[in-house]
Amino acid sequence: MKLYHGSIVFSRTDEELASYTDSYLAVENGTVEGIYPTLPENLRGAEVVELGGDVLIPAFSDLHVHAPQYPQRGLAMDELLPQWLALHTFPQEARFADIAYARAVYDAFVDDLVAHGTLHAVVFGTIHNEATGYLIDRLEKRGLDAYVGKVNMDLDSPAELLETTQGSLRATEDFLARCSANRCARPILTPRFAPTCSWELLCGLGELGKKYGVGVQTHVVESIWEAAEAVRRFPACSCDTEIYERAGLLENGPVVAAHFIFPSPEDIRILKRYGGWAVQCPDATVSIIAGIMPTAALGDAGIRLALGSDLAAGHSAGIYSQAARAVQLSKIKGFYEPDGNRAISFPRAFSMATRQSGALFGRVGSLEPGYRFDALRIGGVEDGFESLSPAEIVERFCYAGETKHIRARYLVGEELG
Ligand code: GUN
Ligand code: FE
Repeated sequence: MKLYHGSIVFSRTDEELASYTDSYLAVENGTVEGIYPTLPENLRGAEVVELGGDVLIPAFSDLHVHAPQYPQRGLAMDELLPQWLALHTFPQEARFADIAYARAVYDAFVDDLVAHGTLHAVVFGTIHNEATGYLIDRLEKRGLDAYVGKVNMDLDSPAELLETTQGSLRATEDFLARCSANRCARPILTPRFAPTCSWELLCGLGELGKKYGVGVQTHVVESIWEAAEAVRRFPACSCDTEIYERAGLLENGPVVAAHFIFPSPEDIRILKRYGGWAVQCPDATVSIIAGIMPTAALGDAGIRLALGSDLAAGHSAGIYSQAARAVQLSKIKGFYEPDGNRAISFPRAFSMATRQSGALFGRVGSLEPGYRFDALRIGGVEDGFESLSPAEIVERFCYAGETKHIRARYLVGEELG
């Protein structure tokens, strides 16, 4: 048993923070055992970590991130989606045929996730099995909870990234088999998005999903162009989400819908039916998509909400800054489109960064007793002018914090070096 003495903040619900001061959080076998106002009699003698003025919070979950795009972060941010993909992103991803390059990038990527306090992630690789296999092995070895996808694209893609339908399905099955014994980094089906996937490919992936019990991640109604293109290519479907439903992809495991910015009522009904997560990626939205998720309305509709860095349409791995941006964007949305939209609170955004998104992986994303002790110790954001409450320290960290303010990271109860 190990105790942490000081301030603790986590999401009690999706709308409310729990905040403790001068309390003792007990960790046993990597799990939060209890939170006590005074040192319990039976725990005298246990090791106590003094937090001083620092605050203990849950580690972050990033539900949409492209590992191979890590080297292009912060570049070409003046483009919009189709040009950004064609001119910058596809050429970057083509480089992952080179395993030496892939290894170097993926090592740096995983280190950067951890540096930013992200200990759970849903990750896109590329079409390449060897490179994506290295990525999932790396996450598995680090003990990070992750879902990782070998990307599928068999239409309208540059030659170096264009797969045949059967080749793409075979490679996916090989990838699933290769990591079937993984403990924490698990595979997820990853059709890139409707404009680069044939119907035959999507249905074949649906069959693999059923056979292996594997979920799906993709980009859904991410721009006006993409939403229109999806139904133009699949006219039997009334909306983008229905394409994946009809292909049998939504019923086999977690469903992760990146962006979900322009959903129709039917998109919302379908995503809700399968308990899928809609992942807001605020920086990416501002930079290359130019649309804002109707966050409050989706929450009201009962959709599970999460945040993604979307590296490298987003420029930083910090999910904490995405929580701040989610509040900012909801205010702009509510201002310009008041009909049905309103600002979300900081506690709601923090829950999207931790508790709601962590639920995809199991008992992570909170520090309530029974949750896994995947946590961060944050501090150094106070300036001496004002004394801040623990919840205010967390809010300031999300708005103005940097990796240097994460003073320790704990994974399953162990401090990471
Ligand atoms: N849509 C299809 N591919 C991508 C991608 O790599 N990033 C983003 N943000 N959107 C996409
Ligand atoms: Fe993306």
